Amino acid sequence: MHNPGNRRPVVLVTGAAGFIGSHVNEALLRAGCAVVGVDNFRTGRRENLRSALEAPDFTLREADVAEPGVLAAIAAEVRPAAIVHLAALVSVQESVADPDLNFRLNVQATHLVAEAARASGVARIVFASSAAVYGEGAGEPLRESDLRTPPISPYGAAKLASESLLLGHGASYGITIRCHRFFNVYGPRQDPRSPYSGVISLFAREFSAGRPVTIYGDGEQTRDFVSVHDVARAVVLAATRPGLASGAANICTGRPISVNRLAAIFGSLVPGASAPRREPARPGDIRHSVGDPSRAAADLGFGAEWAVEKGLGELAGTRAA
Ligand code: UD1
Repeated sequence: MHNPGNRRPVVLVTGAAGFIGSHVNEALLRAGCAVVGVDNFRTGRRENLRSALEAPDFTLREADVAEPGVLAAIAAEVRPAAIVHLAALVSVQESVADPDLNFRLNVQATHLVAEAARASGVARIVFASSAAVYGEGAGEPLRESDLRTPPISPYGAAKLASESLLLGHGASYGITIRCHRFFNVYGPRQDPRSPYSGVISLFAREFSAGRPVTIYGDGEQTRDFVSVHDVARAVVLAATRPGLASGAANICTGRPISVNRLAAIFGSLVPGASAPRREPARPGDIRHSVGDPSRAAADLGFGAEWAVEKGLGELAGTRAA
């Protein structure tokens, strides 16, 4: 890196300018790592990197990790202790509309990450997997072994395939692989621009603009909403904690929260908020999704610390500022 006397462990973060990546950079820097962030700005945003770019131990590489050879060249140069692979096609809807692109960005790119790690002797890979690996009715709460029913989208299939590719590489070439199955992540910098953006990002935008939010169906459907601050902390643990074995773990709170409850909390935080509008349930919407957090607790010593009330309070404060 730019500082040859620097003995901080170097962590390479793909998708560094994304919503989750930008928080991961900052958490790694706070933990004493040097970070090389890679992003092609397809969906990542430069303003997400404003704070990281002020740190002397952060370097940005504008590059496409889905292009063969690109990440291998960066890894050969910076010799990271770990790679955190977050770069992805992040929209489930887009994976349905363009499964070929999903394969390239969510499967092939993972293989290129695994190969870059092998060639440069990288000891560890932390991979952004998803609760989308679980099929319908797989379990309540969902445990890591609940894989009897197949994923219901190309996105979920690609994440599950990527976990397998990485674990196979890890076992063959002595790389520790940590697959994090993120549940419904929310927090500052989440992009609310698509109608399929996360419900909390949409609610935060509508409440702050004084407009009514839309609740699809009866609003009693539940999700496991996990703050991006907790997610970033889990990634730092997986990238830096000594002696970890390979495996997959849910990154979740274990607490189901309904859409009605989200609207009620926002309503209590924003004075004079409009009442929600009701629309029919979205086709294909799942009723309940909650994860079992015990494996991440056992493997990583990780437990979510942000209750959703606190997380929505942060967003209401952020938006009002
Ligand atoms: C997630 C994915 C979605 C995918 C689905 C199935 C994200 C952000 N979304 O959806 O792309 O299709 O898994 O794998 O990862 N809702 C409202 N009002 C709104 C927005 C949403 O009531 O304005 C409801 C939805 O109908 C849903 C719940 O809120 O019941 C959560 O929605 P969302 O944030 O999109 O997450 P998932 O449904 O888990």
